Amino acid sequence: MTIFGSTLTMNHPVNAETMRSLSTVPVEDLSSALFPEWRIRFVESSSSVEGLQMAPTFNHRSVQLAEVLDLFSPVPAGVIVDCTLGGAGHAVALLEARPDLSVVGLDRDPVALAAATKRLQPFGSRAVVISTRFDALADVVEAGLAGRGPWPKNSEGEPLLVVGILFDLGVSSPQLDDPERGFSYRADAPLDMRMDQREGQTASELVNSIDLDALTDLLRENGEDRLARRIAKAIVAARPIATTGELAEIVAGAVPAAVRRRGHPAKRTFQALRIAVNAELDQLSLGLDAALEVLVPGGRCVVLSYHSGEDRLVKRAFQVAMTGGCTCPAQLPCVCGATPVVAKLHGGSLGATDEEIAVNPRAESVRLRAVVKLEEGQSA
Ligand SMILES: C[S@@+](CC[C@H](N)C(=O)[O-])C[C@H]1O[C@@H](n2cnc3c(N)ncnc32)[C@H](O)[C@@H]1O
Repeated sequence: MTIFGSTLTMNHPVNAETMRSLSTVPVEDLSSALFPEWRIRFVESSSSVEGLQMAPTFNHRSVQLAEVLDLFSPVPAGVIVDCTLGGAGHAVALLEARPDLSVVGLDRDPVALAAATKRLQPFGSRAVVISTRFDALADVVEAGLAGRGPWPKNSEGEPLLVVGILFDLGVSSPQLDDPERGFSYRADAPLDMRMDQREGQTASELVNSIDLDALTDLLRENGEDRLARRIAKAIVAARPIATTGELAEIVAGAVPAAVRRRGHPAKRTFQALRIAVNAELDQLSLGLDAALEVLVPGGRCVVLSYHSGEDRLVKRAFQVAMTGGCTCPAQLPCVCGATPVVAKLHGGSLGATDEEIAVNPRAESVRLRAVVKLEEGQSA
């Protein structure tokens, strides 16, 4: 876990070369590794840094911003942990809407962290940015509340409690749009797809080593692709595969012409591999468990999913927490002693409005679910 001070400003355009060099760097050294030959300083204003270049630009339009603000508006004063900080769009809106809230923002992507750190600088100690995966959420909160890490504090110097948790899952627009990151089937680049290029297997390493059955399952489960077997066979036959362009072409060649006419044929394959490379579903399970644990009563957890596998997982985790894991038959009163931990804040899941989708096509697949943590003994 690497912690960036809330006023840390980084002034280096993070390019592909820098990103590649990160893969050999221990996480603890991230801040100096990110900008080895540049300055990283705690500064009053970014313009005071000699040799200033622009921090990475991060053009990402936050999804369901109004709904997120609305859902968090009743929470008491305290900390919102934004588990998927990205460009800090949701975080900035929350800090602006509620002066009594602070934000602890987590992300595993150094480019997002650099952009978010710069964007959050005006909020001073109300914003803390931490480089970590959100499966470390419980540790981050424990360290913060115990005074072992930077954490927003009240005027008496006491750590503020967690009153909200936000997950805005998946990848950001800059991750998708930068061909060098290897997420996009629209450009040719090394087949990488790691949100954090310092760790783990690349998509290329994965497709070149996985066996046919496992690849078929992966494409079926993460990509919900009815042509999974056919595509998997084509991939295995064409190995080794090094670039996004090669993979996109192999998938396009494996699907019938009628399917090719319904949008890019490689979309689902790329999504499935990305989810696997970044262990996104495992991360989500662990993150959700921790989130429901660390929230104070009255605190809220809001999750935006963009994939039915993610949404199913969120629905199930919330359902278990809403019943306290009750195993009694549905129509009978509970006799197993389970106690609900949360209550849902609306029926089903919320999609984006047509107006939002018109200006932000990324919002089309979103499903929002939200719960509030109950007092001990309080009924749902
Ligand atoms: C959709 S973007 C968030 C955008 C943000 N809400 C905004 O308004 O700018 C998702 C972000 O979550 C990060 N992310 C995804 N999975 C993560 C994980 N397991 N741990 C930490 N960060 C993660 C990605 O790197 C990406 O920056």
